[in-house]
Amino acid sequence: MTDETRIAVPATAKAGTHCDLAGYEALYAQSMENPDGFWRDQIGRLDWVKTPTVMGNWSYDPVDIKWFEDGVLNASTQCLDRHLATRGDQTAIIWEADSPDAPSRTLTYRELHGEVCRMANVLKGMGVTKGDRVTIYMPMIPEAATAMLACARVGAVHSVVFGGFSPDAISGRIQDADCRFVITADAGARGGRPVPLKVNVDKALESCPGVTGVLVVRHDGKPVAMADGRDVWWHEARETVPAHCAPEPMGAEDPLFILYTSGSTGKPKGVLHTTGGYMLWANLTFHYVFDYREGEIHWCTADVGWVTGHSYIVYGPLSQGATTLMFEGIPNYPDVSRFWQVIEKHKVNIFYTAPTALRALMREGEAPVKKHDRSSLRLLGSVGEPINPEAWLWYWRTVGDEKLPIIDTWWQTETGGVLISSLPGAIDMKPGSATKPFFGVCPELVDAEGQFIEGPASGNLVLTRSWPGQMRTVYGDHERFVQTYFSTYKGMYFTGDGARRDEDGYWWITGRVDDVINVSGHRLGTAEIESALVAHPDVAEAAVVAVPHDIKGQGIYAYVTPNMGVEATEDMVKELKFCVREHISPIATPDFIHLTPALPKTRSGKIMRRILRKIAENDTSNLGDISTLADPSVVQALIEGRKNR
Ligand code: WTA
Repeated sequence: MTDETRIAVPATAKAGTHCDLAGYEALYAQSMENPDGFWRDQIGRLDWVKTPTVMGNWSYDPVDIKWFEDGVLNASTQCLDRHLATRGDQTAIIWEADSPDAPSRTLTYRELHGEVCRMANVLKGMGVTKGDRVTIYMPMIPEAATAMLACARVGAVHSVVFGGFSPDAISGRIQDADCRFVITADAGARGGRPVPLKVNVDKALESCPGVTGVLVVRHDGKPVAMADGRDVWWHEARETVPAHCAPEPMGAEDPLFILYTSGSTGKPKGVLHTTGGYMLWANLTFHYVFDYREGEIHWCTADVGWVTGHSYIVYGPLSQGATTLMFEGIPNYPDVSRFWQVIEKHKVNIFYTAPTALRALMREGEAPVKKHDRSSLRLLGSVGEPINPEAWLWYWRTVGDEKLPIIDTWWQTETGGVLISSLPGAIDMKPGSATKPFFGVCPELVDAEGQFIEGPASGNLVLTRSWPGQMRTVYGDHERFVQTYFSTYKGMYFTGDGARRDEDGYWWITGRVDDVINVSGHRLGTAEIESALVAHPDVAEAAVVAVPHDIKGQGIYAYVTPNMGVEATEDMVKELKFCVREHISPIATPDFIHLTPALPKTRSGKIMRRILRKIAENDTSNLGDISTLADPSVVQALIEGRKNR
């Protein structure tokens, strides 16, 4: 595959597009040359209580980011109230259960509006007020969206915690955001197995005495413990409140949500997004990147526990009046044709998934795809990690029959929505390239010293201008925000990713250049996994690195040094894996645990991760300079240990 492999915009994507190439170029140029004018033209996409007069007001040095600061609006109004007159009876959410035999559900915009208002009233009754943080720990059911929108309606800040996270991970997030309320369900289901959500919440709350109210959605129906005076059943409470609730007027810069994400150091950070900028970004990108057409059915396979679910299951599609599909299950249950079966069943038009799922399904051959009618599809999308050209071409040929545009969308929890992606009706594709920046986005490459690199080249990806969907701070720790994103290269936002710009100005994201591992599109910090490993009483030290993995993109390779006198056994390896599952989540479980009496360190005691990465990758022909190591013999021992696995 060379960079010259260029796939022209398919005819199907040109017809009826919101934006052709000339349109993209004109709008992009306007967004760069006259940002104020560009944003003034776009703010009408939202219904404001008070229309903003100030557009961007931001600085990267010192760091202070505001957009539309004198505007007033409510996020739930964008997604509900304004659609009632024109599309009240249109389906807002289609829900497909984990089991294909369970009936699907649909909610119209009017029904969703009623549900959200009721839940907002219940939350108020429990004592939730504007500015309160509310943790949402839910399965992929419509009530997850209801919960998010109900928080937004009353001005509370939601913090959705992925349903796969452990009680420890939940309590850490509840404590960090000082949440007094939790919304959860009795249990979820994934791949035929129950997920004990309420049990996990109860465990988490043992160390969160500040939580005074838990709203519990009945989904699984099996009995769960309910704490008197704290836990409230949603199906009971909803009967006691009206289906109307006035939306709280929010300043554009009032927080909408916190979402925890892993970084290269320390514990996960609470990425904070605010109301006006985030909503406009989610809406605008949904409109152009997905080129959404009236009446279409949009399916984003992410979980609402990740930013992709926030922006492209809930806020983007609903603010646009789209029909959004929520799927509780997984791609290979009950068999590997489930995705395609759901597409056929619900006549899905837009399908947005992750490369890891495509790589796993690619292994199963064409038959599971081809046996289902995919003629409803108009657009295919990819997100979460670099998509290798092989997976891209499989998507293009096998799923899309070489007719459907593919959007490879690069973005981050921090960016709120898509920043680099082709626009389906405008930009020719290159398999593996995220292609061109979205309106208002100004990517650049810098070298290690922060000098700009011009022309076709590789380097560190930075953004030199703010965009409305940008995170505003790390919740409760603004200094960490400044340090993490704006101190490596002063005056620029550092993405943590490496990238290449080719001769056509196309962007190729090569992956993280920091200590973040991307496992199946899930971000995990090496520091986080290391601290889960050293929590084991027999462990002295741990160092975690990424290794290439055929399906997951990256796998986790952990070097662990047991305490003196502790025997390195297979049982210990099992216990350590368990430890990581308990502290974080099964998704963080190391693929390899390499027990070693010592780690390679410099004389000043710094672990040389570069060497650990190479050994993990079995690439030991050129380890570079190891003369600075305190004890170079450690390296040989590690190489021997690697061979034995
Ligand atoms: C990676 C998910 C290449 C990247 C929306 C980024 C990608 C991190 C792509 C953010 C893509 C996401 N091509 N890499 N299309 N999309 N990434 O915060 O390393 O879960 O920094 O946001 O995923 O992951 P996050």
